[in-house]
Amino acid sequence: MSIISKDISKAAALLSNEELVAIPTETVYGLAGNIYSEKAIKAIFETKQRPFFNPLIVHIPSVDYLDQIVASIPEKAQLLADAFWPGPITLVLKKKSTIPDLITAGKDTVAVRIPNHPTTLELLNQLDFPLAAPSANPFNRISPTKAEHVEDYFRDQIQMVLDGGPCKKGIESTIIGFENDDPIIYRLGSTPLEAIEAVVGKIEIKNSTALGIESQKKMAPSAPGMLERHYAPKTKTVLTDNLQKSIAQYQGKRIGILLYNDVLNDDGIDFKIVLTQGRNLNEAASKLYDALHQLDKQDLDIIIAERLPDYGLGKSINDRLDRATKP
Ligand code: TXA
Ligand code: MG
Repeated sequence: MSIISKDISKAAALLSNEELVAIPTETVYGLAGNIYSEKAIKAIFETKQRPFFNPLIVHIPSVDYLDQIVASIPEKAQLLADAFWPGPITLVLKKKSTIPDLITAGKDTVAVRIPNHPTTLELLNQLDFPLAAPSANPFNRISPTKAEHVEDYFRDQIQMVLDGGPCKKGIESTIIGFENDDPIIYRLGSTPLEAIEAVVGKIEIKNSTALGIESQKKMAPSAPGMLERHYAPKTKTVLTDNLQKSIAQYQGKRIGILLYNDVLNDDGIDFKIVLTQGRNLNEAASKLYDALHQLDKQDLDIIIAERLPDYGLGKSINDRLDRATKP
């Protein structure tokens, strides 16, 4: 029997009973539990096989709730919250002492956002606690953008996936931390860099793949979110600027390709997915993970992904593809 259901009250009852429920958001599906239940939070880490040093995002229904989660709000954090919430921006702020250490991996900061999905906003409004929710995939695997993706991963481990349809944005929220009250991008994501800079001015990126391995290792304890290999198919995957050359390199293998736009010559390609026909980066982002899930099911020897233009959501998508293709 399927664990996928649209019953919001049932999801609320399970969560109130310290159980886990997978929830839809505009970015990706999350694996949610009551932030104040040690049982539920431990179950999140165990179900995902996620290391305890990697902290969770707290999901709240409205800005009024923020005071219960964080100790202070820098001016630029307020500007970003006003501009983008509900929506795909996560703010990392000084935590209130009432936020359990399990959520924050012992750090003095907490990641928080208001998701922009009617089903989950309704669910959060029915609950008297916020929800911790990492993406609903096993550690290091491809994030889920459809209820079916979650069911494929966790049908034997959780009782319910709350169905909210396919995720409209399709890649995770942009994560922003603060150092001396100045914003810093910890993870590129569904809110494009340019949109953020339009609100708070030029902003530094401490996204690990943008930094190279050495600085990444140094930084690892302060920004654990930026693990190098992540979002990865099981099939070997490469990212290329030169499709024809990469295809030639793997001649004779079962090749799948992930294209930004279409190419003319399909010779030797066993499976092909085109992310967008009209160079629409929003469409490409929304289809990215489903395309990787599909490619990973084709029993291919190699997935060759084409690098996207390096601006707007293209930059965020390239970040994900970079991490998916790290050996
Ligand atoms: O779009 C999203 O953000 C989705 C949906 C479900 O909301 N959630 C998501 O969660 O992507 P997760 O756990 O897969 O990624 C959250 C990232 C982690 O890499 C974690 O290390 C980082 O946020 N993070 C959480 N708390 C942090 C903190 N206090 N300081 C630095 N990084 C933090
Ligand atoms: Mg994740």
